Amino acid sequence: MHVFVFANPLGVLLFTDLVFEEGLTQVDAELDVIFVPTDDLIVEAMLKMAAVTAEDVVYDLGCGDGRIVVAAAMERGARAVGVDMDPRRIAEANALAQEVSVEDRVQFIQDDLLTVDFSDASVVTLYLLPSLNVKLKARILTELKPGTRIIAHAFNMGRWQPDAKRAMGGVYLYKWVVPAPVQGTWEWLGADAKVYRVSLEQTFQMLSGTAWIDNVQAELIEAKLLGDRVRLVIQADVRDEPQVFMSSYQEGVLLPAIDSQQVSAGIRLEV
Ligand SMILES: C[S@@+](CC[C@H](N)C(=O)[O-])C[C@H]1O[C@@H](n2cnc3c(N)ncnc32)[C@H](O)[C@@H]1O
Repeated sequence: MHVFVFANPLGVLLFTDLVFEEGLTQVDAELDVIFVPTDDLIVEAMLKMAAVTAEDVVYDLGCGDGRIVVAAAMERGARAVGVDMDPRRIAEANALAQEVSVEDRVQFIQDDLLTVDFSDASVVTLYLLPSLNVKLKARILTELKPGTRIIAHAFNMGRWQPDAKRAMGGVYLYKWVVPAPVQGTWEWLGADAKVYRVSLEQTFQMLSGTAWIDNVQAELIEAKLLGDRVRLVIQADVRDEPQVFMSSYQEGVLLPAIDSQQVSAGIRLEV
């Protein structure tokens, strides 16, 4: 198969710039996006952006020749899984893993990335297309553990704004942290023996809402969510000291962090 490669107006090669001359195979026709490998420097930057460690389970959805999966295992000691529908890519990926002796920490699965189970991931890497990222979004938000990091090479996730973005070699890398589902009304006891209540509205990782102290409406100065970590700042009145509450969402409750002014677990009164 011949592939002509053109530079886009930015002078950067993207696989959306590839034009086929002839010879699409059956497998090629079924793929949602063709194989274009991520440059090694970008692989390194993606793993760094995700802060991958030996504790992680990394999935590369549409893993190509397995370079991201193998690098996660070899350079970061992670367990890593690659999924690709193309048997040629799976064969190349297994050969690469064998070449650098990381077969015990990696697995390559020939399957459709849109339906495969990746719920045990703590990091997911993507180099697909915007439409595929968007198709994966609902599963990422509902099936992955809060705190799971998603790193995408070149393409964003529609209305879900990234938590971090980095320009690299003429493309952007994006990072999202799967947010815990914290929408609803929560109540807890503060260190000042007052009862705090917030009603939170959530759009992806963005929070807004209303607060009460001992049933009197107060100011919700700050409401932030990163993965399972919540930071709320509440002030009764401009003359009062703002109270800072830091907690983590665990199995439906907000557990107070060390140094938080929250002394009891936050209980959800209504969703
Ligand atoms: C642009 S390449 C990215 C390869 C690799 N992740 C990297 O960054 O080097 C996209 C890969 O997705 C695979 N692919 C396309 N559609 C797929 C699908 N529905 N299920 C699984 N893999 C798919 C292709 O075979 C190709 O290897």
